[in-house]
Amino acid sequence: MIKKYKFGAPFETGTVEKNINCADGAVSYFNSLSSGVFNYALNADDIVYGLGEQVRGINKRGWKYESNCADDCLHTECKSSLYAAHNFLVVDGADKFGVFVDFGGNVKYDIGYENINTLTISVSQPDFYIYIIEAQTAEQTILEFRELIGMSYIPPKWAFGFMQSRWGYKTEEDIRNVADSYKKAEIPLDSICMDIDYMERYKDFTVDKERFPDLKKFSAEMKQRDLHLVPIIDAGVKIEKGYDVYEEGVRSDYFCKRADGSDFVAGVWPGRTHFPDFLNKDARRWFGGKYKILLDMGIDGFWNDMNEPAIFYSDEGLSAAFKRFAEIKDNPLDIDSFFELQALFNNVKNSPADYSAFYHNVDGEKIRHDKVHNLYGYNMTKAASEAFPEALPDKRILLFSRASAIGMHRYGGVWTGDNSSWWSHIALSMCQLVNLNMCGFLFAGSDIGGFSDNTTADLLLRWTQFAIFAPLMRNHSAAGTREQEYYRFPELIDDFRAVLKLRYSLIPYLYSEFMKAALDNKLYFKPLAFAFPNDEIARQTEDQIMLGNELMLAPVMKQNAMGRYVYLPEEMLLVRFSKSGRTVEKLSQGTHFINVALGETPLFIRKNAIIPLAKPAMSTAQIDASELELLGFVDGSASYELYEDDGVSTDYSNAKRILFTVNKNSLTQSDGRTIELSLYN
Ligand code: GLC
Repeated sequence: MIKKYKFGAPFETGTVEKNINCADGAVSYFNSLSSGVFNYALNADDIVYGLGEQVRGINKRGWKYESNCADDCLHTECKSSLYAAHNFLVVDGADKFGVFVDFGGNVKYDIGYENINTLTISVSQPDFYIYIIEAQTAEQTILEFRELIGMSYIPPKWAFGFMQSRWGYKTEEDIRNVADSYKKAEIPLDSICMDIDYMERYKDFTVDKERFPDLKKFSAEMKQRDLHLVPIIDAGVKIEKGYDVYEEGVRSDYFCKRADGSDFVAGVWPGRTHFPDFLNKDARRWFGGKYKILLDMGIDGFWNDMNEPAIFYSDEGLSAAFKRFAEIKDNPLDIDSFFELQALFNNVKNSPADYSAFYHNVDGEKIRHDKVHNLYGYNMTKAASEAFPEALPDKRILLFSRASAIGMHRYGGVWTGDNSSWWSHIALSMCQLVNLNMCGFLFAGSDIGGFSDNTTADLLLRWTQFAIFAPLMRNHSAAGTREQEYYRFPELIDDFRAVLKLRYSLIPYLYSEFMKAALDNKLYFKPLAFAFPNDEIARQTEDQIMLGNELMLAPVMKQNAMGRYVYLPEEMLLVRFSKSGRTVEKLSQGTHFINVALGETPLFIRKNAIIPLAKPAMSTAQIDASELELLGFVDGSASYELYEDDGVSTDYSNAKRILFTVNKNSLTQSDGRTIELSLYN
């Protein structure tokens, strides 16, 4: 059951797709303390799920969070917000309900920080909607919420292949080298990202002619090799006379404006830029139409970046800092003035003053940015997504974004931004992916190996052993850090090849699980608690998660650990994959220390469950599904529904769903393709 409450005159975010009448009276479960502030008394054993891409664990209790899309590249526990604003929480205890705050500005969530037993939601403005969703279980609550917000974005099938990226590939030759090196190392690959250096002076929708003399020809060359190029698009449009995107935007009033009506200026990668007014539908249509420039060159995937929007500096912020600097520069420094000096230019970045200094034009109404801040990246991605069908009807285009709000899950996927090469960020990624799924973001992944700082071979390998299960699987790193393409580690190259090949063997399963999650409204990743709601230990487990109905994942996430403790809520089959093949072991219910050598990927298969595996291939296009292996733990019967379609069209009605059923050791139902059975009991 869903109840909708209206406060003031909310801005329509477009997140909710269903029409629901507003309820009267107080918001169920909550005490309203003052305008926009709601309290819920937590019971000692309540779990609070949700908030999508955030810091900390799967259970969000014990910290204060904020919905405030922010370009913050230090993902530490002390932060309260990252790049996204996902205003959905689920309380799972004696009460079971979900709460969604439909609002585009700042929302604070104190989940047992001030008072360990109190959940407080504070909405920064008086105009918003709140939805309360009630169902029998936490999982059911989430599925009802997902029905409310509409179907998740579906990328083309090739996007489930491995993607290599690095901020640092500057030329066609650099990219060709990456492709050649992967081929030489016999490691599968489907796509290579193009970071900001492909552009002419970081200008959106331009291509640097010296570095990429003929992108159309180059992308055709890559396609011949089953490789897709995925360029980045940044939010800010460079201010430069003669640059058509800039001039058109100025002429048509498509940029965000200051209070005095002049175009707001923000410094980002290209230097001084204007921000397209993505909340204005005409500007959205205009900017979205620009992607065609690259689509016409054979590009079929994009990543939208810097769309919180990130502001390195504004004209106003810089001049205030310079002014203050002039005032204090000749004074003798004491400790306070030294810290003031130190903060002066640091605080120019992403300053709250700037976010309330520009405006959007929404159907003629002038709306101050901070009131709708969290909808900016969402609408940038919507702009692209809505324009794609006009340029390429019936074709899926890969699209993922850094900033997002719920609602954007219909238009694109997300990556979790600039994480670091830290062991703790494998675990963070796991928690984020689970909570992102609850908020509708199924196509998601984190930069494998870590974006900032220097990775190590073992970190990269352990990280990859988890990341092969994420729909978006991308290795990406920052300029200036250690290069981390898999072929750079000759001592572990056979292990990397084996784990990447395992990813490709798993694609029939991963793609089926993803498509069923999107089309049939299911979860792809979920906490153990959802599969074993009455198991107290499972409810508290955060370093193991479930994938679909068949698998439990328990990767090794600590350096130098050659194994780990694993809790099994029921008897399961442990399969260890490595370059020398695989070993299989039946484990009883309970806690076990399992040995997992550095090159091994552990996987747990539930009882009476089977998964399809293909022969490894060098790209998704080369996966041959006419021969599959069914690997399972079966002592009675088990079945699996395989999903297959052409992987590119947006009409899913021609998809095939094939049910494989096995009984003890024989296949009792299939569609006649060659099946090898590997069943254990
Ligand atoms: C931002 C992005 C990162 C990208 C960099 C340069 O930091 O999050 O992925 O590599 O900008 O474009």
